[in-house]
Amino acid sequence: MSQHSQRKDDHLKLAKMLFFSSHNELNQVHLMRPVLPEIALSDISLTIKLFNKIVSAPFFINAMTGGSANAEVVNRRLAQAAAKENIAMSLGSASILEKEPKQLNSFLVARQENPHGFLFANVNPNTSPKTAAKIVKILSADALQIHLNVLQEIVMPEGDRNFHWLDNLKKIQDSVEVPVILKEVGNGISKKSLAFLKSNGFEYIDIGGSGGTDFATIENNRREKNKLNFIDDLNLSTAKCLLGAQENPPEILISSGGITTSMDIFKSLILGADFVGIANLFLQHADSTTNLIQLIQQLKSELTTLFAIFGISDFSSLSNIDYYLDSALFNYFKQINTKKVD
Ligand SMILES: Cc1cc2nc3c(=O)[nH]c(=O)nc-3n(C[C@H](O)[C@H](O)[C@H](O)COP(=O)(O)O)c2cc1C
Repeated sequence: MSQHSQRKDDHLKLAKMLFFSSHNELNQVHLMRPVLPEIALSDISLTIKLFNKIVSAPFFINAMTGGSANAEVVNRRLAQAAAKENIAMSLGSASILEKEPKQLNSFLVARQENPHGFLFANVNPNTSPKTAAKIVKILSADALQIHLNVLQEIVMPEGDRNFHWLDNLKKIQDSVEVPVILKEVGNGISKKSLAFLKSNGFEYIDIGGSGGTDFATIENNRREKNKLNFIDDLNLSTAKCLLGAQENPPEILISSGGITTSMDIFKSLILGADFVGIANLFLQHADSTTNLIQLIQQLKSELTTLFAIFGISDFSSLSNIDYYLDSALFNYFKQINTKKVD
């Protein structure tokens, strides 16, 4: 097995093992419920348009895997569940195909199992624009995610050491015919960084906050010595990233990082997210397609119940829900909004 494929398998194993309860700080956000919601459950639909396709819920399976035999098994199950439930799904980074084209099937399986569903392809920021366009085409991807994972690369002994990424990101965006989403991988995007990405023409952003899968920890576990644990201090939680996006949101804001419950999804939407990405929770249920389908159905049913409790019949009224923040989060919110960021 190549070093790259081995790393993909290590990620699956370690991510599954190291997934702790959520510290995404959404528990510091408290919602205020109306006493008279004036709604019937039958009035509620979670159906929503994601770029070019209609999906059945505002949450999706975020990028995880591809590039090994194990990854193919996981992608097959994820894609079968996504197809059955009509939720969007992202594949893990396909940049491995530049050097190992024989790994294509571990990605292609998702399109074969789900010919009509919404599929994101995913590449790293160094991928050549030509390869990125080729990957989008081969997978018939509806959109392309590019991961911005500086901390992960730093902790990986074999990771990138050159972070001049911006020019290539722009070139990729110009070369592909589908929307490009820039995403973090669980360490978060600050208010200032978000403004910078927007000013460079990127309007679809997944804030990828901390609180769930933590690649600094995963990569530190793969290191035998010289662990770089000091990096943990640089994480920005999902709740903080969402608050940071409120003043100047991108056209499409995606919340992710430690999303494990319907309440996390609901709070993300109320804080301003348009969609919510979930990775590791799905991995925890990926021992069978049936388990994945059950999880998706449960999240949909609970989210519908939350919409009913709060009298939400359409997504636009989510912004009317009042909430308050615990003092630590409120303090952060005040600080980022008094400091000029651009
Ligand atoms: C096993 C595993 C592999 C991942 N691989 C990728 C990847 O290839 N590309 C990417 O953009 N994000 C990748 N991620 C990051 C997720 O898409 C997501 O940003 C991160 O896990 C935080 O979400 P979570 O807390 O719901 O897991 C991976 C996550 C996991 C668990």
